[in-house]
Amino acid sequence: MINIILLGPPGAGKGTQAKVLEDSFGIVQLSTGDMLRAEVSAGSDIGREADAIMKAGQLVPDGIIVGIISKRLDDDDCRQGVILDGFPRTLPQAEALDTMLEEKSLKLDRVLSIEVDDDAMVERITGRFSCSQCGAGYHDKFQRPAKEGVCDSCGSTDFIRRADDNAETVRARLEAYHKSTKPILDYYGEKGLVSAVDGMSAIEEVSEQLKTAITRS
Ligand code: AP5
Repeated sequence: MINIILLGPPGAGKGTQAKVLEDSFGIVQLSTGDMLRAEVSAGSDIGREADAIMKAGQLVPDGIIVGIISKRLDDDDCRQGVILDGFPRTLPQAEALDTMLEEKSLKLDRVLSIEVDDDAMVERITGRFSCSQCGAGYHDKFQRPAKEGVCDSCGSTDFIRRADDNAETVRARLEAYHKSTKPILDYYGEKGLVSAVDGMSAIEEVSEQLKTAITRS
C-alpha cells in the first residue's frame, strides 16, 4: 500500500500526473476538485455552497473537504493506496488528515511537490480541456488529441472546459495557493516526507521523476 500527496499550484500537473501514477502503481486518485465539481453538477447542498467559492478561485471551507475525504478513504478501491490530488490545501486540512490516517491505521508515505513558475500556469490552465465522457485531459498547445477533435481514450468528440479556467480566476487560485497551501510544505518537510520534482519539464519527464521519488520512499 502506498499513500501519497501531490502538491503544487493550479496547473502544476497534479491531475495529469495522478492519472499516470494510478496506472503505474495501481492506486486511486482522490481529487477534491473533481469531487466538488461532481457535487456542483449534482446540485447537492455541498455543490450549491461550493459553486460560487470555486468560481471566485477561493478555498472551500475545511470542514466540508475533510468530511468528503474521510468518507471516501473508507471505499474498497482505496485499499491499495491513494494519490491525494488537491488535498490537503491548508494547515488545518493537513492536521485533520494526520488524525484520520491514524484513526484508520494508515500512513502517509510521501509528499511530492511539483515545482513550477507561476507565470507559465496561466497559459497551461487557460488552454486546458477534457473529454466530457471519460475525463481524459488535454491542452490546446501541450497535449492535443492524436486525431483532431477525437478523444484518444474513448473516441468521444465532445470536450469541455472548466468554469474556473479563466485568467482572472487562475490568478486568485495562485494567490490562495501561496497564502494557504504552500506553508504545508514546511509542515511535511519537518516530518522528512517531501520530495520536490521539476514540473517545468515535459509531462513524461515529470512522470519519471515522480515514479523514482515514490519507488525510493
Ligand atoms: P482543483 O480541481 O484541485 O484545481 P487546482 O488545484 O487549481 O489544480 P488544477 O486542476 O487546475 O491543476 P493541476 O495541477 O491538476 O494541472 P493539470 O494536470 O490539469 O481545485 C479547484 C477548486 O476547488 C479550488 O480552486 C477550490 O475552490 C476547490 N478545492 C479543491 N480542493 C480543495 C481543498 N482541499 N480545500 C479547499 N478548496 C478546494 O494540468 C494543467 C494543464 O497543463 C493541462 O492541460 C495539462 O495537459 C498541461 N500540463 C500538465 N503538465 C504539463 C507539463 N509538464 N508541461 C506542459 N503542459 C503540462
